[in-house]
Amino acid sequence: MLQKISSHEEYTNAFNESINNPNDFWGKVAHSFSWKKKWDKVFSGGFEKADYKWFEGGRLNITENCLDRYLESIGDKTAIIWEPNNPSEKNRQLTYRELHEEVCRFSNALEKTGVNKGDTVCLYMPMIPELAIAMLACARIGAIHSIVFGGFSAQSIADRIKDAECKWMITADGCFRGDKPLYLKKIVDEALEQCPSIQKSIVFNRSNFDCNMKPGRDLWWADIIKDCTTTHDSAIMESEDPLFILYTSGSTGKPKGVLHTIAGYMVYAAYTFLNVFQYKPEQIYWCTADIGWVTGHSYIVYGPLLNGATTLIYEGVPQFPDWGRWWDIIDKYKVNIFYTAPTAIRSLEAQGTNWLKRKSLLSLSVLGTVGEPINEEAWVWYFKNIGKENCPIVDTWWQTETGGILISSLAGITPTKPSYATLPLPGVEPIIVDANGNEIIEPIAEGNLCIRKSWPGQARTVYKDHKRFIQTYFTTYPGKYFTGDGCKRDSNGNYRITGRVDDVINVSGHRIGTAEVENAINEHSEVYESAVVGFPHAIKGQGIFAFVSCQPHPNDLILFKQEVLNIVAKIIGPFAKPDRIEIVSGLPKTRSGKIMRRILRKIAEGEFDKVGDVTTLLNPEVVEEIIKKVKT
Ligand code: WT7
Repeated sequence: MLQKISSHEEYTNAFNESINNPNDFWGKVAHSFSWKKKWDKVFSGGFEKADYKWFEGGRLNITENCLDRYLESIGDKTAIIWEPNNPSEKNRQLTYRELHEEVCRFSNALEKTGVNKGDTVCLYMPMIPELAIAMLACARIGAIHSIVFGGFSAQSIADRIKDAECKWMITADGCFRGDKPLYLKKIVDEALEQCPSIQKSIVFNRSNFDCNMKPGRDLWWADIIKDCTTTHDSAIMESEDPLFILYTSGSTGKPKGVLHTIAGYMVYAAYTFLNVFQYKPEQIYWCTADIGWVTGHSYIVYGPLLNGATTLIYEGVPQFPDWGRWWDIIDKYKVNIFYTAPTAIRSLEAQGTNWLKRKSLLSLSVLGTVGEPINEEAWVWYFKNIGKENCPIVDTWWQTETGGILISSLAGITPTKPSYATLPLPGVEPIIVDANGNEIIEPIAEGNLCIRKSWPGQARTVYKDHKRFIQTYFTTYPGKYFTGDGCKRDSNGNYRITGRVDDVINVSGHRIGTAEVENAINEHSEVYESAVVGFPHAIKGQGIFAFVSCQPHPNDLILFKQEVLNIVAKIIGPFAKPDRIEIVSGLPKTRSGKIMRRILRKIAEGEFDKVGDVTTLLNPEVVEEIIKKVKT
């Protein structure tokens, strides 16, 4: 069993040991897992070439660690509770034994279909147990899963399939989110028109929606598992074999296929889940994220199952059938640990406390947040109304690239401080650098957040583009991992993450590259050029502000804006639609033609007097015009 930190003093000791003697520290943690062969070396490599490796020489299968090793001790314990979108539909519960059987059965089915070790498989699925089963089955046979969040468009799916060279697709006919049907298979069909690399597409029948099954390509999930047994010898994998690819947005227009490898990710996801949430056996844990984002990978599926926990998967949305649904679910299953995003807390807060009447919520003992900075007001609302002032809030800072939580308090063990993620976890050495790239040694500091050394859960590369990986994360501040976030440190060593300092915006916890949205907008025939920036948004954290210059000038502005929204939804997905579009006669540019996003950011934030000196611009006159437009 993994060692759990159970006092502040133990945290301090663990942290010190992890920094002074990382190999011993992580070696000890890794010993509690089940290995086919132990590693030769705990750690090697470094940031210069980004060639770091963890537990090299080890052999294992992550699903043996999630499932097989628990069959004897807790085989009858519930592994997954599934709550459907519609409360009148029957829920499902799978024990560790049943989940193991389903994963084995589907592993056999995948192998029978021709999926091989090392193949990449794209998953585009609703929040149903079969999504977890499919990802675990991929891991069991040594295939690499690449999950695409169900809100992405056909074009985004196609781009990801092509980049990851996926040969297999796993999807469902569709699902309901609230009262809205989502026709996933139709979206996938459209994507696959561009993707000849896909040999087979496996379709799970979730909703009995009409599906156009393409002969020779499309297979029903139920048909392929029919003759498969419920036992399966898991593939023996190397520690550094790939586990999954997950796409995330950056400063450039093209999303990056972040690659995680098996052993380091496993050790880190398991260790952080146990310690941050202080999970106790028998507790019910619920993370409201989508499995299509890294939060779902690490803290709905892998982290909890690696700890033998009971993890709840909810298919629907917080407002269906009404804004009391989440609280009903907490009461129905007596959820103990609840993990969600600040944006969700703010939307629930905005509905008022009426929805909390006649809800108990007394089962809760730990609350968590993730995805974006949490403002103090939302923190206090969450603490008082949901936690009844009895539950510590863990504000967990991390990223797709970090695999697991890097900065957070440990629930009930280390102190919390509203709007601060607080302290680094063992193995994590945050550093703050100033504008010149120099490390700030003084305790109180403000600047850009970097990490000094590798930790086991760190992403290993950008799929097929190691150069870009090095360029993005290890060249801005040579020798350090650059997170892309700004941050502050107080005199007690607590970290407060202030937000992205690159061209990435965080909308409702969704990470969106401004260049991606611009590229989509520019597809409109009347758009000459565009610039997208973030602005403060009461619920979403940040909203998307698009400044667009047109040629010719559109006749019907309302129609034009609608078309722009449609294009963004079609190319990226509905969640990336701009909140505000302003048509301007030109964008502020330097004499060398570079768009001055800094000025547009200030304008979008309403800080008109802070645009600074514009006299050296190529076209200073547009700044006044833009300010006037935005003000009215
Ligand atoms: C970015 C990473 C990590 C899972 C979900 C997002 C922001 C994340 C926090 C937090 C302030 C946070 C950062 C980070 N972020 N957690 N607790 N406080 N900011 O993963 O999509 O890779 O986004 O989300 O800006 O860089 P992601």
